[in-house]
Amino acid sequence: MKRGLIITVDGPAGAGKSTVSKMLAQLLSYIYLDTGALYRAVAYKFLIDNTAPDDEKALSELLMRMSISLKNKHGTLNVFVNGENVTDKIRNEKIGLLASRISAIALVRASLLSIQRNVGKRGGIVAEGRDMGTVVFPDADYKFYLEASVDVRARRRYNELCMRGSNVDYDEVERDLIVRDRQDREREIAPLKAFDGATIIDSTHMTISEVVEKMMSLIGVRK
Ligand code: DC
Repeated sequence: MKRGLIITVDGPAGAGKSTVSKMLAQLLSYIYLDTGALYRAVAYKFLIDNTAPDDEKALSELLMRMSISLKNKHGTLNVFVNGENVTDKIRNEKIGLLASRISAIALVRASLLSIQRNVGKRGGIVAEGRDMGTVVFPDADYKFYLEASVDVRARRRYNELCMRGSNVDYDEVERDLIVRDRQDREREIAPLKAFDGATIIDSTHMTISEVVEKMMSLIGVRK
C-alpha cells in the first residue's frame, strides 16, 4: 500500500533544495531522501581508496564492495559506508566536486539507482537531487525544479560552510560552484536540467519559508 505522494526537488548546488526538502518532508511526515549524500559517499570511498575514476575495473570492484545506508537519527540523515558514519566527512567542497565528477560515470549512477528507488517505492517521500524527476522517479506526483542566481547560491553555500566551521574563501566557493554546475549540466547521463513537467521556482528573492509555502499550496496542503 502507498504511504503517500512522491515529491521530487531537483536543481543546482546552493539553490536551497536540502533545507526546503527537509522542511517539506517534516511538514508532511514523509521520508527525506538526500541523493547527493549517496554520490558524496561514493566520492569519499574513492578518495580513501585512492581509486582513479578512469580505472573501470577498480571502480566496479569498489562499488561491489561498498554498502551505503541512510539512517534517520533525531531528524538528521546519517550516511554510512561499510558501517562507518561518514555524515560529517562528506560535507566539504572537495568531496562535492569529486561527487560531481564521479556522478558522470554510468556504473556509479546505475549502482545507486536501485537504492534510491527502493527508498521511494511505497511513496511518502521528498527526494532531492539532480535527476529525481527525470530518471529516478519519472512518475512522481509533484516535481519541482529549484533555481537561484549564481551569486545568491554561492553566498548561501559560503554561509553554510562557515556555519559548519570551515575556513573557506568566498571566491573559491563561487568558482567551485560554477565548475560543479557545468559538470552536472553537461554530462551525458542524467544531466541536470529544468525539464518539462517540473514546476520551476526561482528562489533568488524568496525566503525558505516562502518557497515551502509555495510548494505546499501547489501540492494542495496548507501548513
Ligand atoms: O546535492 P549535492 O551537492 O550533495 O550533490 C553532490 C554531487 O552529486 C552533485 O554535484 C552531482 C551529484 N548528484 C547527482 O549527479 N545526482 C543526484 N541525484 C544528486 C547528486
